[in-house]
Amino acid sequence: MTFNKIYQYNFPTTIRFGAGASKELGDYLKQNNIKSPLIVTDATVAHLGFFKEIIIELEKKNISIEVFHDIHKNPVKSDVYKGTEIYDATNREAIIGIGGGAAIDVARAIVLRVHHREDLFKYDDLIGGDVYITNDVPHFITIPTTAGTGSEVGRSAIIADDKTHQKKILFSPKLLAKIVFADPILTMELPAHITAATGMDALTHNMEAFLAKMPHPLCEGIALEGIALISQSLEKAVNSPDLASRSNMLIASLMGAVAFQKGLGVVHSLAHPLSSLLDTHHGLANAVNIPYGMKFNIEGCENKFRRIARTLELKEETGEAVVQYLFDLNSKINIPEKLREIGVMPEHIDTLADLAIGDFAHPNNPKPVSREDFKKLYLEAL
Ligand SMILES: NC(=O)c1ccc[n+]([C@@H]2O[C@H](COP(=O)([O-])OP(=O)(O)OC[C@H]3O[C@@H](n4cnc5c(N)ncnc54)[C@H](O)[C@@H]3O)[C@@H](O)[C@H]2O)c1
Ligand SMILES: [Fe+2]
Repeated sequence: MTFNKIYQYNFPTTIRFGAGASKELGDYLKQNNIKSPLIVTDATVAHLGFFKEIIIELEKKNISIEVFHDIHKNPVKSDVYKGTEIYDATNREAIIGIGGGAAIDVARAIVLRVHHREDLFKYDDLIGGDVYITNDVPHFITIPTTAGTGSEVGRSAIIADDKTHQKKILFSPKLLAKIVFADPILTMELPAHITAATGMDALTHNMEAFLAKMPHPLCEGIALEGIALISQSLEKAVNSPDLASRSNMLIASLMGAVAFQKGLGVVHSLAHPLSSLLDTHHGLANAVNIPYGMKFNIEGCENKFRRIARTLELKEETGEAVVQYLFDLNSKINIPEKLREIGVMPEHIDTLADLAIGDFAHPNNPKPVSREDFKKLYLEAL
């Protein structure tokens, strides 16, 4: 590897990781003199037992709680505006995102909006909007409850336009949580189909990050270990979860998000349009597409695929064996093999290909992807 350019490497914030970590939240708020946070979650998590327990514990410590959970499955701009109105109206002083990637992304976008009141998409990273993110932001804390996106350690929020459903990225180092409480106990009751889809999202992050163009040996090491942990634990976490498999998946998903500062690739660009057009869950969209996207990537990356195969302890150390592994893993965790099974129709393909070529993820793919390539990949997966 020759480093004839200077690259920037960023590593995340304080992470309190382990069974029971979420119970430290109250003391942390006290130590930081935070008396009235806004908790951002989604309507499902808001009704789960562990969430209610967190609230009870905070109330016992005389912390005033306001919960905002009125968000879409693929969050949109108006969700962020509504949450910010509640933040203002109830005089909040900090934000805690508790949930999957959707809730944590909305929480992060509210963190941005509190002191940045131009149109939210003026801050879109793809049009250089990060330069306008100059003001302070409220104290931000994250508690993941899925093991997939790793958004808890991220610096970006993915929020869609209410009308076009196009996903925009709000990015700034200021949007990094000050502390993450990653507690595998909170993921113990995650339903099998969500465990499967979010787990495959985490695997996609680690694999795409490992392959992405940017030279970044630190992230490549993390990505390979993330792949190893997922290969040891995802099937178990889906079919007969225990604390070890849940813990491995939670740390591996967090590692995937650390690794993908190196970039993502063709699979995420195939997946994002499915969420925009058909409201498909992000993880499921990646899960169905990953074998096809990885097959596309083999040529020219044979050496890296050999290293992935070795990490997966496959008999044959080839890209083709990795692709077969992905089909087999999907089948063991009940992920469909074909896009048709998740509602994609032949008439969607052209629109999907148009959206995919405009997506932000594929410019970091190890080899270029054309609109024609996207179309072929969708047709192959159909
Ligand atoms: N910011 C980033 O870096 C980043 C990266 C990838 C994806 N994303 C975004 O993240 C979102 C997807 O996040 P996700 O995959 O975590 O899904 P999600 O947040 O939509 O959660 C999936 C489902 O699981 C439920 N759930 C969450 N925790 C649970 C628990 N402990 N027990 C039972 N049910 C639970 C939720 O209510 C929801 O119905 C998308 O909006 C995507 O665009 C963000
Ligand atoms: Fe993802």
